Amino acid sequence: MTAAERIEELREEALSAVASAGSTSDLESVRVRYLGRSAELTEIKKSIRDLPPEDRKAVGGASNKATKEIEGALHERLESVAATEREERLRAEAVDVTLPGTPYLKGSLHPSLRVIDEVVDFFVGLGYRVAEGPEVETDYYNFTALNIPPGHPARGMQDTFFLDEGLVLRTHTSPVQIRTMLSQEPPVYVVCPGRTYRRDSDPTHTPMFNQIEGLAVDKGLTLGHLKGTLAAMARHVFGEDVKVRLRPSYFQFVEPGVELDVSCFRCGGSDPNCKVCRGAGWIEMLGAGMVDPAVLTEVGYDPEEYTGFAFGMGPDRMAMVRYGIPDLRLFFEGDLRFLHQF
Ligand code: PHE
Repeated sequence: MTAAERIEELREEALSAVASAGSTSDLESVRVRYLGRSAELTEIKKSIRDLPPEDRKAVGGASNKATKEIEGALHERLESVAATEREERLRAEAVDVTLPGTPYLKGSLHPSLRVIDEVVDFFVGLGYRVAEGPEVETDYYNFTALNIPPGHPARGMQDTFFLDEGLVLRTHTSPVQIRTMLSQEPPVYVVCPGRTYRRDSDPTHTPMFNQIEGLAVDKGLTLGHLKGTLAAMARHVFGEDVKVRLRPSYFQFVEPGVELDVSCFRCGGSDPNCKVCRGAGWIEMLGAGMVDPAVLTEVGYDPEEYTGFAFGMGPDRMAMVRYGIPDLRLFFEGDLRFLHQF
């Protein structure tokens, strides 16, 4: 077979291989096979210089022509195969933007947390600092330092969960008062939200509940400051029109002790069948009082120089009233049907 015949054969083979290549990578193999560095056609071109001079022109011309033709065919085929591949890829990666998105669950704030946030925000706005303390408390901080010595009947009034070795689950947030006063000098302005525990369970009592304690100790604080502060807080939480009143009460660690009522934010006292105040016109809201000098002395403050007021409220109870929820136990069951309403 002459070189020219072989070139013709290779040309035909290559063109049919190009025609049947189905992908860009097939085409690349075809190119390497027929036009690559060690392809037969390349070898033939390299050997032209060894041919007798009269043959060189013909073989050279034929091989160049074959190369050009194969290159041309490869190029053309590559364009159409690549276009098909691109279309396929686009089709596979296509995103249907008209499909509905994946819905995600929206959370909501627990009703107690809403009240806690509002109350804490209010006091922070007045310059109070947030203080926290442990839920497992020593007998000393929960009782003794608050003027409730061992054996005192007031201890029995709070259904305490006793733990080992003089520890209790704190029955109120008042021990945070003591911890705060022991850790700093007056003036003190703190608000202390937290969980508290009592052995109690019925529609309006749960073994765990929240409290928010407040404590202010400074020179010259009076019951007037207490009332003004709490009245402003009540307006912040329940609305501009509510009024407050103080009733005498008793807590071991304050003197005098008071309870604070808020005028009914729903009926203002005008509806004998009101669901919120049950016709009373007033809602009991919190316990408070002037810090007992014995407590100030206990933490090393001079009661001749400083006076203070303290208050403790139940944000869960406040949320029940605010949202008209009849059963406190709902707050802690974690039922999403309940929680999603807020
Ligand atoms: N610690 C009291 C309670 O849990 C509430 C209270 C706090 C009363 C501060 C007076 C002053 O009942």
